Amino acid sequence: MSRVKTLGQFIIEKQADFPYSKGELSRLLRDIGIAAKIVNREVNKAGLADILGDAGEMNVQGENVKKLDVFANDQFIAALSVGGECCAIASEENEDIIVVNNEMSKNAKYVVAIDPLDGSSNIDVNVSIGTIFSIYRRTSLSGPGQKEDFFQRGTEQVAAGYVIYGSSCMMVYTTGKGVNGFTLDPSIGEFCLSHPNMQTPKAAKTYSINEGNYVHFPDGVKKYIKYCQEEDDSTNRPYSSRYIGSFVADFHRNLITGGIYIYPTTFKSPKGKLRLLYEANPLAFLVEQAGGKATDGYHRILDMDIVELHQRTPLFIGSADMVDTACSYMLKYSTVDA
Ligand code: AHG
Ligand code: MN
Ligand code: MN
Repeated sequence: MSRVKTLGQFIIEKQADFPYSKGELSRLLRDIGIAAKIVNREVNKAGLADILGDAGEMNVQGENVKKLDVFANDQFIAALSVGGECCAIASEENEDIIVVNNEMSKNAKYVVAIDPLDGSSNIDVNVSIGTIFSIYRRTSLSGPGQKEDFFQRGTEQVAAGYVIYGSSCMMVYTTGKGVNGFTLDPSIGEFCLSHPNMQTPKAAKTYSINEGNYVHFPDGVKKYIKYCQEEDDSTNRPYSSRYIGSFVADFHRNLITGGIYIYPTTFKSPKGKLRLLYEANPLAFLVEQAGGKATDGYHRILDMDIVELHQRTPLFIGSADMVDTACSYMLKYSTVDA
């Protein structure tokens, strides 16, 4: 008898943790898994197909959109629209929400925020990229989903996770009861439970930050980087610097081996670069479930108010002790202006 547990089997088993659930959330996670497999298939042949390069449009953030971003966005929207459990989608690639207005979905309970393809500058160079998703219960009572349904604190997420398209494809998610990771077995086309109950090390020695922006970092971050680079046997320093430039990939490595990822304010991004709704909040929920922490340098990410779909935030995320130390440097050397 095989010991392999597929994502589908795991989701059904876990439904028992939610006694009043009618399976809607399970079906949503299943829909996300299906879209992820389709995106993975395209990512794997990105070097072959005529899918490389810019799509020739700018997204709402003023960045170049790659063709695969458009493809991934379309796939997730399609899967969530036909699934019947999601009444609105907020995506990095769309300025406004996408209202899912078919008969099946218009009174659905959930809304989904998504970064369909994260790390898109790495597509053309065969480096890991990802998808980030976040699921909320709608706050409006019925009818089409509304923008306000997304203006909830990160603490209100019912599920969140990511897919990494890397040396293998993995889906990692939480419903608030721990974190589980599934690796795609391409021979059977199924995500299989490979990383049950993931916990991130409390202390570690990897820091991930785009040091090219150093001169524009707040003093607290500059001092923390110097701290990471100092020699001190008792605290295992100097630490190692690792930065891929795909948030999902940097986060995934640090989740497993321990570490801190920082995207602070910079001259170019005075409010930080990453987006609260579909980048910071979902991975903050996940890292806390794995025993880690996420802040904007001063405040817990999950407690932050959200007033705009594409709101940005500075982010300090990863191993609890490392985030605490980095934040102590922020408090000591940088003024809270957030
Ligand atoms: P996206 O591809 O979804 O726009 O996200 C890019 C983000 C994130 O993945 C990454 O960590 C960060 O941008 C890298 O930014 P820098 O190139 O400024 O370091
Ligand atoms: Mn992103
Ligand atoms: Mn993206």
